[in-house]
Amino acid sequence: MFPPIRAELAGIEPYGAPQLDVPVQLNVNENPYGPSEACIAEIATAVAEAAVELNRYPDREFVALREALADYLSRDAPVTPEMVWAANGSNEVMLQLLQAFGGPGRTALSFAPTYSMYPEYARDTNTEWVTGQRESDFSLDLEKARALVEEVRPSVVLLPSPNNPTGTALDPESIGALCAAVGESGIVVVDEAYGEFRRAGVPSALESLATHRNLVVTRTMSKAFAGAGLRLGYLAADPAICDAIRVVRLPYHLSAVTQAAALAALRHTDELLGNVATLREERDATVAWLRGQGFTVAESDANYALFGTFPDRHAVFEGLLERGVLIRETGPSGWLRVSIGTPAEMDAFKKALLEVTR
Ligand SMILES: Cc1ncc(COP(=O)(O)O)c(C=O)c1O
Repeated sequence: MFPPIRAELAGIEPYGAPQLDVPVQLNVNENPYGPSEACIAEIATAVAEAAVELNRYPDREFVALREALADYLSRDAPVTPEMVWAANGSNEVMLQLLQAFGGPGRTALSFAPTYSMYPEYARDTNTEWVTGQRESDFSLDLEKARALVEEVRPSVVLLPSPNNPTGTALDPESIGALCAAVGESGIVVVDEAYGEFRRAGVPSALESLATHRNLVVTRTMSKAFAGAGLRLGYLAADPAICDAIRVVRLPYHLSAVTQAAALAALRHTDELLGNVATLREERDATVAWLRGQGFTVAESDANYALFGTFPDRHAVFEGLLERGVLIRETGPSGWLRVSIGTPAEMDAFKKALLEVTR
């Protein structure tokens, strides 16, 4: 058989949502608001300055970027630069975590329905993959979760908060209890890719870092920071965890261009987060509208809503697509996920959904 790929990878389709050129793209939870003119200009200048020294390898330790990310995270809880690690998207951060803490003879655990990349990190690092189940409202039953941790003794637990595709946030008590149950023989990764969109009063897992040495909180610039094209994800954890990742990372994995652009974007944090407030309002309005139309909608702390249920969700997905609206066929059967876009995009979505379902 050619190519001589690993047997367990043979015939597997690469992961990826459809990238279709349609007018209304609400399928990969991007931020619909691009950076401002001022932010674009600053990124362009920073990249031009970095280009002068492109003959040299970049700062392997990305010290300035770690400082800026630590400053930003410290809005939620005290984080020092030694506690920060970054890579090309939080997907790469989490793959590195599995490379360092997973591997043959070790197990990674999560709770379905959840983010579909997690089993891929496990597969690619030869880590055994185990999933528990979420409740019908997509919350975690702490007692069941704890029992599964005690049975499986995972080296890595992956817990998105808010969860993708359901939008469900985790409470700090559950995070603390699972960190305690996992103990020092494993790490608990709270994936806060959508953390900035959480509703008022919902705490970040960053607040639990001081009490749990085995807790890792991952974030990304792809969502709230409107930087999906930038590819910059990061984490906060005990410095010993960052040191462990250094063993598996490729040297100079963060390019000088990425570092410069990310630093420039971080200087526009407040402006970028201004759009987050708008998106949260649009999210709440979308959830209320969907419920008003008689759909079932999962509680969402993210920039998307999971709604349903449809006897033939594929037909609804296709009907929307025919009307120029791309959403995502994901989650438990019968459900669909829509990312929160601009008011005009959401109007197009609502109009198309009513046409298709009424
Ligand atoms: C829950 C969750 N985690 C992580 C990611 C990865 O994001 P990125 O690699 O762009 O940082 C995504 C992307 O959609 C996600 O939904």
